[in-house]
Amino acid sequence: MQHQFILRTHHVITLVLCVSASDDFDWTKNEKTSFYYGTFPTGFSWGVGSSAYQTEGAWNIDGKGASIWDSFAHRKGKIFLNDTGDSSCEGYYKFKDDVTLMKDMKLNHYRFSISWPRILPSGLKSEHINEKGIKYYDDLINLLLDNKITPVVTLYHWDLPQILQEKYGGWQNVSMVNYFNDFANLCFERFGNRVRNWITFNNPWSIAVEGYETGEHAPGLKLKGTGAYRAAHHIIKAHAKVWHTYDTQWRSKQKGLVGISLTADWGEPVDVSNQRDIEAAERYIQFYMGWFATPIFSGDYPQVMKDYVGRKSGQQGLGASRLPVFSPQEKSYIRGTCDFLGLGHFTTRYVTQKNYPSGVGDSYFADRDLAELVDPQWPDPGSEWLYSVPWGFRRLLNFVKSQYGNPMIYVTENGVSEKMLCTDLCDDWRMQYFKDYINEMLKAIKDGVNIKGYTAWSLLDNFEWDEGYSERFGLFYVDFRNKNKPRYPKASVQYYKRIISSNGFPNQREVESWKRKAVETCSSSNQLLAADPLIGHMEMVTEIVVPTVCTLCILLSAVFLMFLLRGRL
Ligand code: NOJ
Repeated sequence: MQHQFILRTHHVITLVLCVSASDDFDWTKNEKTSFYYGTFPTGFSWGVGSSAYQTEGAWNIDGKGASIWDSFAHRKGKIFLNDTGDSSCEGYYKFKDDVTLMKDMKLNHYRFSISWPRILPSGLKSEHINEKGIKYYDDLINLLLDNKITPVVTLYHWDLPQILQEKYGGWQNVSMVNYFNDFANLCFERFGNRVRNWITFNNPWSIAVEGYETGEHAPGLKLKGTGAYRAAHHIIKAHAKVWHTYDTQWRSKQKGLVGISLTADWGEPVDVSNQRDIEAAERYIQFYMGWFATPIFSGDYPQVMKDYVGRKSGQQGLGASRLPVFSPQEKSYIRGTCDFLGLGHFTTRYVTQKNYPSGVGDSYFADRDLAELVDPQWPDPGSEWLYSVPWGFRRLLNFVKSQYGNPMIYVTENGVSEKMLCTDLCDDWRMQYFKDYINEMLKAIKDGVNIKGYTAWSLLDNFEWDEGYSERFGLFYVDFRNKNKPRYPKASVQYYKRIISSNGFPNQREVESWKRKAVETCSSSNQLLAADPLIGHMEMVTEIVVPTVCTLCILLSAVFLMFLLRGRL
């Protein structure tokens, strides 16, 4: 009885805190307005994104060390069809072609990541710097700048040096903070004279939850209820340390910015007139984006996380919360370490209270105590988790504005996939997705959200983590069956190009013609792609069959000649 009372009081406290935390955000005001014709502010930056492991290939070339993703993908049964990123899009060799594609699209920026083990094969700066790896990124950065494309560089898109995982347990170990800082410092030293936009971590939620809680991603650990919290704790500290390193050692010379890229789905209350649904939706967001954003903007974890994880830990009879604690010094060191917020956003969920029975408390998911639902009417053309719900994007952007004091935002990822067998380059659903999501972003700017740039995910079809090559997010189709990995533009390339050249959506008549025009141009690409197996076959004939036959002919003639000469002697 007394226990119940404590729980109820606790709920009231939580409710008050939740409501006061997002004081400006009006959960009940979801304006699903019609399409808005208008343009983006001058100077708005348009780009595309990629990451090292997903596109580079060349996994063991020119002195690169192994990453946790190399090792994970080499283990049977971890990736769909046991695919690996060993060669992927061969971006390591084809970056010049890729920059040409970007130039043709008239992009303002390109977001890519640096592979830590490519430049520090043993993970440690003190041991060995791989100059060939440095040269690869030097060449890429220089070429981008020659083509007036601004490099936006992610320092960690999930590829930790494998040796750091083996020796120290990776992000479970606080020593990663210093090792990551050394790596980042080296990048500032070598590339910072040309790179002004740095992202420390990409989607730390995935690193923590999928890497250390569910084990679906590298390093594949299933440390339920503790692993994700510990990993996240160290990642937040590492982010803050790198920001301070830049701030004290490089900022005055290099004049750049350091941010983090958080991925966040929107959580909409199932019933906006039900306070418990509103609380559940806010918990969804706080356990997702707020887990990282609140320490970085305000110094500590969201109160609701501290309450819920603390309560569940208490019910399990643990002496302390499974959520680690920041010391007062750490809080002030971490607070404010963000020059801009990178936001990756793909989809939305409806959220309601779940009431996990006590005793099922030992996991991040049980801690949140909520259920996610989807509307079966939402389009879901590709990945099973990705429903197209454009209005959720505007809601999320407004939430960020009210929650974190209207920070400068760069949208670092947004896009949609298609199913594996789809070889139709006329990707109508992707054009629709970009049109609607970008339009909601424009409405958010009208609402006063401070968004400076947008990055479509992704330039190329690439290695989609545990899904292998079965989900294609690219603007360009990559034919993975052909060892040259040719790229073919999907219709959405043309569509995105028009958004970029108009800096938005000028007027109804023009915008309505864009899809038709894009589809017209993509039919010729379709024909080229259809001919690709033939071309691949012909290449095989010229590259393998012809040289083999020639060599055999030469050998046979030599043998024949020898016999002839012997007979004469
Ligand atoms: C976010 C990740 O950062 C990226 O690597 C991935 O490809 C996309 N989500 C799509 O799942």
